Amino acid sequence: TYNLEKYRPNLHFAPQKNWMNDPNGLIYFNGEYHLFFQHNPHDSIWGPMHWGHAVSKDMITWEELEIALYPDELGTIFSGSTVVDWNNTSGFFPDEPGMVAIFTHHLDGTDQTPPVQTQSLAYSHDKGRTWTKYEGNPVLKHSTKLDFRDPKVFWHDQTEKWIMVLATGQTISLYSSPNLIDWQLESEFGEGIGSHDGVWECPDLFELTVENSGEKKWVLFVSIGDDPQFESGSRTQYFIGSFDGSTFTAENNEIQWVDFGKDNYAGVSFSDVPKDDGRRIYLGWMSNWRYANQVPTEGWRSQMTLPRTLALRNIEDKLLVVQRPVKELDQYFVKKLDLNDVTIKSGEQKTYNIDGSSVEFVLNIENMNSKEYGLVIAHTETQNTVITIDPITNQLIVDRKNSGQVDFSENFSNRQEMKINTTDHVNLRIILDASSIEVFVNDGAYALTSLIFPDKTCEQVSIFSSAGDIKIANGYISASES
Ligand code: FRU
Repeated sequence: TYNLEKYRPNLHFAPQKNWMNDPNGLIYFNGEYHLFFQHNPHDSIWGPMHWGHAVSKDMITWEELEIALYPDELGTIFSGSTVVDWNNTSGFFPDEPGMVAIFTHHLDGTDQTPPVQTQSLAYSHDKGRTWTKYEGNPVLKHSTKLDFRDPKVFWHDQTEKWIMVLATGQTISLYSSPNLIDWQLESEFGEGIGSHDGVWECPDLFELTVENSGEKKWVLFVSIGDDPQFESGSRTQYFIGSFDGSTFTAENNEIQWVDFGKDNYAGVSFSDVPKDDGRRIYLGWMSNWRYANQVPTEGWRSQMTLPRTLALRNIEDKLLVVQRPVKELDQYFVKKLDLNDVTIKSGEQKTYNIDGSSVEFVLNIENMNSKEYGLVIAHTETQNTVITIDPITNQLIVDRKNSGQVDFSENFSNRQEMKINTTDHVNLRIILDASSIEVFVNDGAYALTSLIFPDKTCEQVSIFSSAGDIKIANGYISASES
Protein backbone atom coordinates (compact mmCIF):
# COMPACT_ATOMS: atom_id res chain seq x y z
CA THR A 1 0.00 0.00 0.00
CA TYR A 2 1.11 3.55 -0.65
CA ASN A 3 2.44 5.15 2.48
CA LEU A 4 1.00 8.64 2.59
CA GLU A 5 3.28 9.62 5.42
CA LYS A 6 6.56 8.47 3.89
CA TYR A 7 7.74 12.00 3.22
CA ARG A 8 6.88 13.29 6.69
CA PRO A 9 10.03 14.77 8.26
CA ASN A 10 11.38 13.66 11.63
CA LEU A 11 13.43 16.70 12.54
CA HIS A 12 11.56 19.48 10.76
CA PHE A 13 8.22 21.04 11.54
CA ALA A 14 5.37 20.08 9.22
CA PRO A 15 1.65 20.57 9.88
CA GLN A 16 -0.36 17.50 10.84
CA LYS A 17 -2.83 18.30 8.10
CA ASN A 18 -3.29 20.65 5.18
CA TRP A 19 -1.34 23.57 3.81
CA MET A 20 1.48 25.62 5.34
CA ASN A 21 3.70 28.42 4.03
CA ASP A 22 5.74 31.15 5.76
CA PRO A 23 6.87 30.93 9.37
CA ASN A 24 5.19 33.72 11.35
CA GLY A 25 5.54 35.20 14.82
CA LEU A 26 8.66 33.22 15.78
CA ILE A 27 9.33 34.00 19.43
CA TYR A 28 10.70 32.65 22.70
CA PHE A 29 8.56 33.31 25.75
CA ASN A 30 8.43 31.70 29.21
CA GLY A 31 10.45 28.62 28.35
CA GLU A 32 8.79 27.90 25.01
CA TYR A 33 9.64 28.61 21.41
CA HIS A 34 6.57 29.49 19.35
CA LEU A 35 6.16 28.89 15.66
CA PHE A 36 3.11 30.34 13.99
CA PHE A 37 2.65 29.67 10.31
CA GLN A 38 0.65 30.59 7.25
CA HIS A 39 -2.00 27.89 7.20
CA ASN A 40 -5.03 26.86 5.18
CA PRO A 41 -6.89 24.45 7.46
CA HIS A 42 -9.40 23.51 4.73
CA ASP A 43 -7.11 22.07 2.08
CA SER A 44 -3.55 21.04 1.27
CA ILE A 45 -3.11 23.86 -1.24
CA TRP A 46 -2.80 27.61 -0.52
CA GLY A 47 -6.15 29.21 0.37
CA PRO A 48 -7.70 31.45 3.03
CA MET A 49 -4.85 32.12 5.41
CA HIS A 50 -4.95 31.52 9.16
CA TRP A 51 -2.10 31.44 11.66
CA GLY A 52 -1.40 27.87 12.69
CA HIS A 53 0.56 27.42 15.90
CA ALA A 54 3.14 25.05 17.40
CA VAL A 55 5.38 25.18 20.47
CA SER A 56 8.68 23.54 21.30
CA LYS A 57 11.31 23.39 24.03
CA ASP A 58 14.17 22.91 21.57
CA MET A 59 12.94 24.06 18.11
CA ILE A 60 13.26 20.49 16.77
CA THR A 61 10.32 18.61 18.33
CA TRP A 62 7.16 20.64 17.95
CA GLU A 63 3.70 20.23 19.40
CA GLU A 64 0.99 21.61 17.14
CA LEU A 65 -1.68 23.58 18.99
CA GLU A 66 -5.05 25.06 18.03
CA ILE A 67 -5.17 27.64 15.26
CA ALA A 68 -4.14 31.00 16.73
CA LEU A 69 -5.70 33.53 14.33
CA TYR A 70 -8.77 33.16 12.12
CA PRO A 71 -9.90 35.41 9.28
CA ASP A 72 -12.44 38.11 10.13
CA GLU A 73 -14.25 40.96 8.36
CA LEU A 74 -10.94 42.75 7.70
CA GLY A 75 -9.62 39.77 5.77
CA THR A 76 -7.55 36.63 6.02
CA ILE A 77 -4.39 36.52 8.15
CA PHE A 78 -1.17 36.97 6.18
CA SER A 79 2.38 36.91 7.51
CA GLY A 80 3.66 38.87 10.49
CA SER A 81 5.53 38.69 13.76
CA THR A 82 5.06 38.60 17.52
CA VAL A 83 6.75 40.49 20.33
CA VAL A 84 6.59 40.41 24.12
CA ASP A 85 5.40 43.80 25.35
CA TRP A 86 7.56 43.72 28.48
CA ASN A 87 6.79 47.32 29.50
CA ASN A 88 3.09 47.31 28.61
CA THR A 89 3.57 50.05 26.03
CA SER A 90 0.34 48.92 24.38
CA GLY A 91 -1.76 48.94 27.53
CA PHE A 92 -2.89 45.36 26.80
CA PHE A 93 -1.05 43.95 29.82
CA PRO A 94 -1.95 45.72 33.08
CA ASP A 95 -1.06 42.62 35.14
CA GLU A 96 1.82 40.79 33.51
CA PRO A 97 3.70 40.90 30.20
CA GLY A 98 2.27 39.00 27.27
CA MET A 99 2.56 38.53 23.54
CA VAL A 100 1.34 40.81 20.78
CA ALA A 101 0.96 39.60 17.20
CA ILE A 102 1.39 42.16 14.41
CA PHE A 103 0.08 40.72 11.16
CA THR A 104 -1.31 41.62 7.76
CA HIS A 105 -5.03 41.54 7.15
CA HIS A 106 -5.56 40.66 3.50
CA LEU A 107 -8.95 41.46 2.00
CA ASP A 108 -9.58 40.00 -1.43
CA GLY A 109 -10.52 42.40 -4.19
CA THR A 110 -13.66 42.32 -6.29
CA ASP A 111 -14.30 43.09 -9.97
CA GLN A 112 -14.44 46.77 -9.04
CA THR A 113 -11.92 46.99 -6.19
CA PRO A 114 -8.30 45.87 -5.70
CA PRO A 115 -7.28 43.73 -2.71
CA VAL A 116 -6.48 45.62 0.49
CA GLN A 117 -3.60 44.86 2.85
CA THR A 118 -3.43 46.47 6.30
CA GLN A 119 -1.54 45.77 9.54
CA SER A 120 -3.42 44.65 12.63
CA LEU A 121 -2.80 43.52 16.20
CA ALA A 122 -3.91 40.67 18.45
CA TYR A 123 -2.74 39.94 21.99
CA SER A 124 -2.59 36.96 24.30
CA HIS A 125 -2.62 36.68 28.10
CA ASP A 126 -2.08 32.91 28.14
CA LYS A 127 1.21 32.19 26.41
CA GLY A 128 -0.27 32.32 22.95
CA ARG A 129 -3.04 29.76 23.53
CA THR A 130 -5.85 32.22 22.88
CA TRP A 131 -5.81 35.60 21.16
CA THR A 132 -7.93 38.74 21.25
CA LYS A 133 -7.92 40.98 18.21
CA TYR A 134 -7.41 44.66 19.02
CA GLU A 135 -10.69 46.55 18.59
CA GLY A 136 -8.94 49.41 16.79
CA ASN A 137 -7.71 47.25 13.88
CA PRO A 138 -6.20 47.94 11.46
CA VAL A 139 -3.42 50.01 13.02
CA LEU A 140 -1.61 50.76 9.76
CA LYS A 141 -2.92 51.22 6.24
CA HIS A 142 -1.81 52.91 3.05
CA SER A 143 -3.91 54.78 0.53
CA THR A 144 -2.09 53.68 -2.61
CA LYS A 145 0.24 50.75 -1.93
CA LEU A 146 -1.34 47.41 -2.82
CA ASP A 147 1.60 45.29 -1.63
CA PHE A 148 1.74 46.32 2.00
CA ARG A 149 2.47 43.32 4.16
CA ASP A 150 4.52 41.03 6.38
CA PRO A 151 5.33 43.30 9.36
CA LYS A 152 8.33 42.25 11.45
CA VAL A 153 8.53 44.26 14.65
CA PHE A 154 11.26 44.62 17.27
CA TRP A 155 12.05 46.89 20.19
CA HIS A 156 14.92 49.29 19.43
CA ASP A 157 16.78 49.95 22.69
CA GLN A 158 18.61 53.14 21.70
CA THR A 159 15.54 55.07 20.57
CA GLU A 160 13.12 53.22 22.90
CA LYS A 161 10.67 52.63 20.10
CA TRP A 162 9.14 49.73 18.27
CA ILE A 163 10.42 49.40 14.71
CA MET A 164 8.46 47.70 11.97
CA VAL A 165 9.95 46.57 8.67
CA LEU A 166 7.24 46.07 6.08
CA ALA A 167 7.29 44.76 2.51
CA THR A 168 5.91 47.48 0.24
CA GLY A 169 6.19 46.35 -3.37
CA GLN A 170 9.86 46.29 -4.26
CA THR A 171 11.00 48.26 -1.25
CA ILE A 172 11.00 47.83 2.52
CA SER A 173 9.31 50.56 4.54
CA LEU A 174 10.43 51.23 8.09
CA TYR A 175 7.92 52.53 10.64
CA SER A 176 8.27 53.37 14.32
CA SER A 177 5.83 53.39 17.22
CA PRO A 178 5.85 54.06 20.95
CA ASN A 179 3.01 51.62 21.65
CA LEU A 180 2.49 49.21 18.70
CA ILE A 181 -0.72 51.09 17.88
CA ASP A 182 0.37 54.43 16.39
CA TRP A 183 2.86 54.07 13.57
CA GLN A 184 4.97 56.67 11.80
CA LEU A 185 6.88 56.23 8.54
CA GLU A 186 10.64 56.61 9.08
CA SER A 187 12.21 55.64 5.76
CA GLU A 188 12.07 53.42 2.73
CA PHE A 189 14.86 51.12 1.57
CA GLY A 190 15.55 49.25 -1.63
CA GLU A 191 15.41 51.49 -4.64
CA GLY A 192 18.36 50.80 -6.94
CA ILE A 193 19.91 48.14 -4.73
CA GLY A 194 19.60 44.39 -4.45
CA SER A 195 17.67 41.94 -6.57
CA HIS A 196 14.33 43.05 -7.93
CA ASP A 197 13.51 39.76 -9.65
CA GLY A 198 10.14 39.67 -7.91
CA VAL A 199 7.94 41.33 -5.31
CA TRP A 200 9.69 41.90 -1.96
CA GLU A 201 8.23 39.96 0.95
CA CYS A 202 8.82 38.95 4.58
CA PRO A 203 11.62 41.33 5.68
CA ASP A 204 13.54 41.02 8.92
CA LEU A 205 16.05 43.45 10.45
CA PHE A 206 18.41 42.51 13.29
CA GLU A 207 21.93 42.94 14.59
CA LEU A 208 24.61 40.27 14.20
CA THR A 209 28.11 40.03 15.60
CA VAL A 210 31.13 39.49 13.37
CA GLU A 211 32.77 36.25 14.52
CA ASN A 212 35.99 36.68 16.52
CA SER A 213 35.71 40.45 16.60
CA GLY A 214 32.75 41.58 18.66
CA GLU A 215 31.92 44.11 15.97
CA LYS A 216 28.19 44.41 15.25
CA LYS A 217 26.32 45.14 12.05
CA TRP A 218 22.68 45.32 11.08
CA VAL A 219 21.37 42.77 8.62
CA LEU A 220 18.21 43.03 6.54
CA PHE A 221 16.67 39.86 5.11
CA VAL A 222 14.33 40.33 2.14
CA SER A 223 12.54 37.48 0.43
CA ILE A 224 11.76 37.79 -3.28
CA GLY A 225 8.61 36.30 -4.72
CA ASP A 226 8.44 33.94 -7.68
CA ASP A 227 8.48 35.61 -11.06
CA PRO A 228 7.98 33.18 -13.97
CA GLN A 229 10.58 35.13 -16.01
CA PHE A 230 13.35 33.74 -13.79
CA GLU A 231 14.25 30.12 -13.27
CA SER A 232 14.99 30.31 -9.56
CA GLY A 233 11.50 30.87 -8.23
CA SER A 234 11.30 32.41 -4.77
CA ARG A 235 14.44 33.06 -2.70
CA THR A 236 15.90 35.31 -0.03
CA GLN A 237 18.58 38.01 -0.24
CA TYR A 238 20.25 40.00 2.49
CA PHE A 239 21.92 43.35 3.04
CA ILE A 240 24.55 44.21 5.65
CA GLY A 241 24.82 47.74 6.99
CA SER A 242 23.81 50.12 9.72
CA PHE A 243 20.56 51.25 11.31
CA ASP A 244 20.18 54.45 13.31
CA GLY A 245 16.65 53.92 14.57
CA SER A 246 15.19 55.47 11.46
CA THR A 247 17.11 54.51 8.32
CA PHE A 248 18.83 51.32 7.23
CA THR A 249 21.93 51.91 5.08
CA ALA A 250 23.49 49.01 3.20
CA GLU A 251 27.24 48.65 2.89
CA ASN A 252 27.24 46.01 0.21
CA ASN A 253 26.23 46.71 -3.34
CA GLU A 254 26.34 43.22 -4.76
CA ILE A 255 23.46 40.82 -4.31
CA GLN A 256 23.90 38.30 -1.51
CA TRP A 257 21.73 35.21 -1.03
CA VAL A 258 20.84 33.59 2.25
CA ASP A 259 20.75 30.12 0.71
CA PHE A 260 21.74 28.64 -2.66
CA GLY A 261 19.13 25.88 -2.71
CA LYS A 262 15.63 26.22 -4.08
CA ASP A 263 13.86 25.53 -0.83
CA ASN A 264 14.41 28.17 1.79
CA TYR A 265 11.96 31.06 1.63
CA ALA A 266 10.40 33.72 3.84
CA GLY A 267 12.84 33.02 6.66
CA VAL A 268 12.66 35.29 9.69
CA SER A 269 14.26 35.24 13.13
CA PHE A 270 12.96 34.51 16.63
CA SER A 271 12.07 37.47 18.81
CA ASP A 272 13.00 37.70 22.48
CA VAL A 273 15.62 34.97 22.66
CA PRO A 274 17.03 35.75 26.14
CA LYS A 275 20.05 38.07 26.18
CA ASP A 276 22.18 35.56 28.10
CA ASP A 277 21.56 33.07 25.30
CA GLY A 278 22.38 35.75 22.76
CA ARG A 279 21.67 33.75 19.62
CA ARG A 280 19.92 35.12 16.55
CA ILE A 281 18.05 32.09 15.24
CA TYR A 282 15.99 31.91 12.09
CA LEU A 283 14.15 29.33 10.05
CA GLY A 284 12.53 29.43 6.63
CA TRP A 285 9.73 27.76 4.76
CA MET A 286 11.36 24.78 3.04
CA SER A 287 9.65 25.13 -0.32
CA ASN A 288 9.48 27.31 -3.39
CA TRP A 289 6.44 29.10 -4.78
CA ARG A 290 7.33 27.63 -8.18
CA TYR A 291 6.05 24.20 -7.14
CA ALA A 292 4.96 24.42 -3.50
CA ASN A 293 1.34 23.57 -4.34
CA GLN A 294 2.38 20.51 -6.36
CA VAL A 295 4.89 18.73 -4.13
CA PRO A 296 3.85 15.07 -3.84
CA THR A 297 2.78 14.85 -0.22
CA GLU A 298 -0.81 14.01 0.56
CA GLY A 299 -3.03 15.40 3.28
CA TRP A 300 -0.33 17.87 4.37
CA ARG A 301 2.02 20.17 2.49
CA SER A 302 5.28 21.91 3.38
CA GLN A 303 7.80 21.85 6.15
CA MET A 304 10.18 24.38 7.71
CA THR A 305 13.98 24.35 7.43
CA LEU A 306 16.00 23.44 10.48
CA PRO A 307 16.39 26.37 12.87
CA ARG A 308 19.80 27.96 12.29
CA THR A 309 22.00 30.27 14.32
CA LEU A 310 23.24 33.28 12.36
CA ALA A 311 26.51 35.19 12.52
CA LEU A 312 28.74 37.33 10.30
CA ARG A 313 32.13 36.19 9.09
CA ASN A 314 34.87 37.80 7.03
CA ILE A 315 35.68 35.47 4.15
CA GLU A 316 38.24 36.63 1.62
CA ASP A 317 37.64 40.27 2.56
CA LYS A 318 33.91 39.97 2.25
CA LEU A 319 31.43 39.96 5.08
CA LEU A 320 28.97 37.07 4.79
CA VAL A 321 26.02 35.89 6.83
CA VAL A 322 26.87 32.38 8.03
CA GLN A 323 24.46 29.86 9.49
CA ARG A 324 24.59 26.61 11.45
CA PRO A 325 21.83 24.30 12.61
CA VAL A 326 21.07 25.05 16.28
CA LYS A 327 23.04 22.97 18.78
CA GLU A 328 19.79 21.46 20.08
CA LEU A 329 19.83 19.26 16.98
CA ASP A 330 22.90 17.33 18.13
CA GLN A 331 21.07 15.25 20.72
CA TYR A 332 18.89 13.72 18.00
CA PHE A 333 21.80 11.98 16.30
CA VAL A 334 23.83 8.96 17.33
CA LYS A 335 27.24 8.46 15.78
CA LYS A 336 27.34 5.34 13.59
CA LEU A 337 30.72 5.53 11.96
CA ASP A 338 33.96 7.47 12.27
CA LEU A 339 35.83 8.41 9.14
CA ASN A 340 39.41 9.34 9.92
CA ASP A 341 42.28 9.48 7.50
CA VAL A 342 40.42 7.77 4.67
CA THR A 343 42.07 8.20 1.28
CA ILE A 344 39.97 7.83 -1.84
CA LYS A 345 42.06 7.28 -4.92
CA SER A 346 41.37 8.62 -8.34
CA GLY A 347 38.40 6.87 -9.91
CA GLU A 348 37.54 5.04 -6.70
CA GLN A 349 34.76 5.32 -4.21
CA LYS A 350 34.15 4.21 -0.65
CA THR A 351 30.68 2.97 0.11
CA TYR A 352 29.06 2.84 3.53
CA ASN A 353 25.74 1.26 4.41
CA ILE A 354 23.72 3.57 6.55
CA ASP A 355 20.17 3.34 7.67
CA GLY A 356 18.21 5.92 9.57
CA SER A 357 15.11 8.05 9.34
CA SER A 358 17.49 11.04 9.38
CA VAL A 359 21.20 10.99 8.66
CA GLU A 360 24.00 13.46 9.23
CA PHE A 361 27.34 13.51 7.41
CA VAL A 362 30.25 15.57 8.73
CA LEU A 363 33.32 15.42 6.53
CA ASN A 364 36.57 17.35 6.52
CA ILE A 365 37.98 16.66 3.10
CA GLU A 366 41.45 17.45 1.84
CA ASN A 367 41.69 17.59 -1.87
CA MET A 368 45.05 16.22 -2.96
CA ASN A 369 44.69 16.74 -6.72
CA SER A 370 41.14 15.67 -7.58
CA LYS A 371 39.26 17.33 -10.43
CA GLU A 372 35.89 16.36 -9.04
CA TYR A 373 34.69 14.63 -5.91
CA GLY A 374 31.61 14.22 -3.83
CA LEU A 375 28.91 11.99 -2.41
CA VAL A 376 26.23 9.82 -3.92
CA ILE A 377 23.50 9.44 -1.34
CA ALA A 378 21.56 6.33 -2.30
CA HIS A 379 18.04 6.51 -0.92
CA THR A 380 17.14 3.20 -2.56
CA GLU A 381 18.76 1.08 -5.26
CA THR A 382 17.51 3.39 -7.99
CA GLN A 383 17.06 6.73 -6.27
CA ASN A 384 19.93 9.00 -5.31
CA THR A 385 20.93 12.56 -4.66
CA VAL A 386 24.40 13.55 -5.82
CA ILE A 387 26.58 16.23 -4.27
CA THR A 388 29.57 17.16 -6.40
CA ILE A 389 32.41 19.52 -5.64
CA ASP A 390 34.13 21.00 -8.64
CA PRO A 391 37.45 22.47 -7.54
CA ILE A 392 38.01 24.00 -10.95
CA THR A 393 34.97 26.24 -10.94
CA ASN A 394 34.81 26.39 -7.13
CA GLN A 395 31.30 25.05 -7.05
CA LEU A 396 29.21 22.65 -5.05
CA ILE A 397 26.38 21.11 -7.04
CA VAL A 398 23.33 19.26 -5.76
CA ASP A 399 21.64 17.08 -8.33
CA ARG A 400 18.22 15.76 -7.37
CA LYS A 401 17.01 14.60 -10.76
CA ASN A 402 17.16 10.91 -9.69
CA SER A 403 16.14 11.53 -6.11
CA GLY A 404 12.64 10.04 -6.35
CA GLN A 405 9.50 11.88 -7.41
CA VAL A 406 10.53 14.85 -9.54
CA ASP A 407 8.04 15.16 -12.37
CA PHE A 408 5.43 17.24 -10.54
CA SER A 409 7.29 20.35 -11.76
CA GLU A 410 9.41 21.19 -14.77
CA ASN A 411 11.90 23.07 -12.63
CA PHE A 412 12.42 20.56 -9.87
CA SER A 413 15.18 18.59 -11.67
CA ASN A 414 17.35 21.61 -12.39
CA ARG A 415 20.84 21.62 -10.89
CA GLN A 416 21.39 23.64 -7.78
CA GLU A 417 24.85 25.11 -7.47
CA MET A 418 26.77 27.43 -5.21
CA LYS A 419 30.16 29.04 -5.26
CA ILE A 420 32.28 28.02 -2.32
CA ASN A 421 35.70 29.40 -1.53
CA THR A 422 38.31 26.83 -0.54
CA THR A 423 38.03 23.67 -2.57
CA ASP A 424 41.37 22.22 -1.46
CA HIS A 425 40.02 21.79 2.05
CA VAL A 426 36.28 21.55 2.47
CA ASN A 427 34.22 21.03 5.56
CA LEU A 428 30.80 19.55 4.80
CA ARG A 429 27.86 19.09 7.10
CA ILE A 430 24.87 17.48 5.45
CA ILE A 431 21.58 16.75 7.12
CA LEU A 432 19.24 14.39 5.40
CA ASP A 433 15.67 13.92 6.55
CA ALA A 434 12.76 12.02 4.97
CA SER A 435 12.22 14.62 2.25
CA SER A 436 14.98 17.19 2.48
CA ILE A 437 18.70 17.73 2.33
CA GLU A 438 20.50 20.68 3.93
CA VAL A 439 24.13 21.21 3.00
CA PHE A 440 26.42 23.50 5.01
CA VAL A 441 29.94 24.19 3.77
CA ASN A 442 32.92 25.46 5.79
CA ASP A 443 31.21 25.74 9.13
CA GLY A 444 28.11 27.41 7.80
CA ALA A 445 29.72 29.81 5.32
CA TYR A 446 27.45 28.55 2.54
CA ALA A 447 24.09 26.80 2.76
CA LEU A 448 22.05 24.91 0.20
CA THR A 449 18.60 23.67 1.17
CA SER A 450 16.68 21.33 -1.04
CA LEU A 451 13.56 19.19 -0.94
CA ILE A 452 13.73 15.63 -2.26
CA PHE A 453 11.04 12.95 -2.48
CA PRO A 454 12.69 9.52 -2.27
CA ASP A 455 10.95 6.31 -1.17
CA LYS A 456 13.35 5.99 1.73
CA THR A 457 15.70 8.38 3.53
CA CYS A 458 18.97 6.53 3.01
CA GLU A 459 20.47 3.10 2.41
CA GLN A 460 24.02 3.86 1.41
CA VAL A 461 26.47 6.62 0.79
CA SER A 462 29.39 6.51 -1.64
CA ILE A 463 32.17 9.05 -1.46
CA PHE A 464 33.96 9.34 -4.79
CA SER A 465 36.82 11.14 -6.45
CA SER A 466 37.67 11.48 -10.14
CA ALA A 467 40.96 12.34 -11.82
CA GLY A 468 42.91 12.71 -8.60
CA ASP A 469 42.77 11.72 -4.91
CA ILE A 470 41.06 13.10 -1.86
CA LYS A 471 41.47 12.35 1.81
CA ILE A 472 38.77 12.47 4.46
CA ALA A 473 40.97 13.89 7.20
CA ASN A 474 38.25 13.30 9.74
CA GLY A 475 34.51 13.07 9.98
CA TYR A 476 31.60 10.84 10.88
CA ILE A 477 28.18 9.65 9.90
CA SER A 478 25.34 9.83 12.41
CA ALA A 479 21.76 8.72 12.25
CA SER A 480 18.56 9.41 14.10
CA GLU A 481 16.07 6.70 14.92
CA SER A 482 13.03 8.81 15.69
C1 FRU B 1 5.25 35.00 1.21
C2 FRU B 1 3.82 35.50 1.18
C3 FRU B 1 3.70 36.74 2.05
C4 FRU B 1 2.24 36.72 2.42
C5 FRU B 1 1.96 35.26 2.55
C6 FRU B 1 0.58 34.84 2.16
O1 FRU B 1 5.38 33.65 0.92
O2 FRU B 1 3.42 35.74 -0.15
O3 FRU B 1 4.10 37.93 1.41
O4 FRU B 1 2.00 37.42 3.61
O5 FRU B 1 2.91 34.58 1.76
O6 FRU B 1 0.32 33.50 2.50
